[in-house]
Amino acid sequence: MSDIPASVADRPELQALWHRHSFVELDARARAFSLLDEDTGQEYCDPFDRIESPWLEPQGLVPESDDGLVVVKGLLAGESCVVIGIEGAFQGGSIGEVSGAKAACALQLAARDARTGQPISAVLLLETGGVRLQEGTLGLNAVAEILSALLELRGMRPVIGVVAGPLGSYGGMSIVAGLCTRVVLTHEGRLGFNGAQVIESEAGVAEFDSSDHALIWSVNGPAQRYATGLADAVVLDDVPAVRQAVITAVAAGVPEHHRSEELDVLAARLSPSDGGQARFSLPGLGIPVAPSPGQDSLAASHPGSAQQRGAES
Ligand code: COA
Repeated sequence: MSDIPASVADRPELQALWHRHSFVELDARARAFSLLDEDTGQEYCDPFDRIESPWLEPQGLVPESDDGLVVVKGLLAGESCVVIGIEGAFQGGSIGEVSGAKAACALQLAARDARTGQPISAVLLLETGGVRLQEGTLGLNAVAEILSALLELRGMRPVIGVVAGPLGSYGGMSIVAGLCTRVVLTHEGRLGFNGAQVIESEAGVAEFDSSDHALIWSVNGPAQRYATGLADAVVLDDVPAVRQAVITAVAAGVPEHHRSEELDVLAARLSPSDGGQARFSLPGLGIPVAPSPGQDSLAASHPGSAQQRGAES
């Protein structure tokens, strides 16, 4: 405790922040292994298999020998689990032909195992700008295959989406998030379909001002997504907190109705009560603004007291 500055030591609500082991700062591989029980993870199609995109080099881009996606199978709280981690630092975590095939195949194999009496859950680490623009239709096809495999698996075992940040989850992969059994966010996680700059360039600054960070976070940020039922837990950026939230989400099992089947509920939650005046204002929606690191309410995100829907409600 001696290395803790007095400014932190005097404020108990900052202790969790000071002692945390950041999940966001890990790369996709480290994130995947950190979620699983110690020494149980095994990576499939690892970089030494050199399965890389053939489409990037002709466009002057350097490919990566895992195509920015890792698949690690192991145990989560003693039960089989496959973690599919997208590397946000490679091409914006975009999904191309190869990375998409790796993710879809992992989910298809999990579904096959679940079907044949070997239950296995899946965790998707979504750090992504969606379909890889350089691979166009191939990326779109890959996302469709991921969606199809996810839909099969989620009927038998939970498929949990984790959006940790800093990139967030956007584009076609946010449809994947929408279909997940449950979604866990950190306070740094953003979830949306089109990115702010994409909306601004397509529909104009009056529609969405991509320089307005408060606006972006009030629409795509974790408080909004949790309050409107698109996310089930918001946790501190801390490995044990994220892992515990994922374990809780898996333990809650397969729901009778998935979120994506309850469109009327979601539409009602998004309806403004004041005739549309405060469409994107959290206070206007009666939603508390997301606590940012350092605020007193951060203590509420400690592993022991994470905001959590599903298993606890
Ligand atoms: N395909 C290829 N590259 C992508 C990508 C995609 N779908 N999404 C992001 N990237 C790249 C960016 O071009 C950028 O590359 P650079 O570092 O070489 O310039 C890098 O990823 C990081 O993106 P950047 O926009 O700088 O990060 P950010 O944190 O400001 O914003 C996003 C992240 C995801 C919000 C933003 O990149 C975005 O809006 N992406 C598009 C989302 C979208 O609308 N997708 C629809 C396609 S399905």
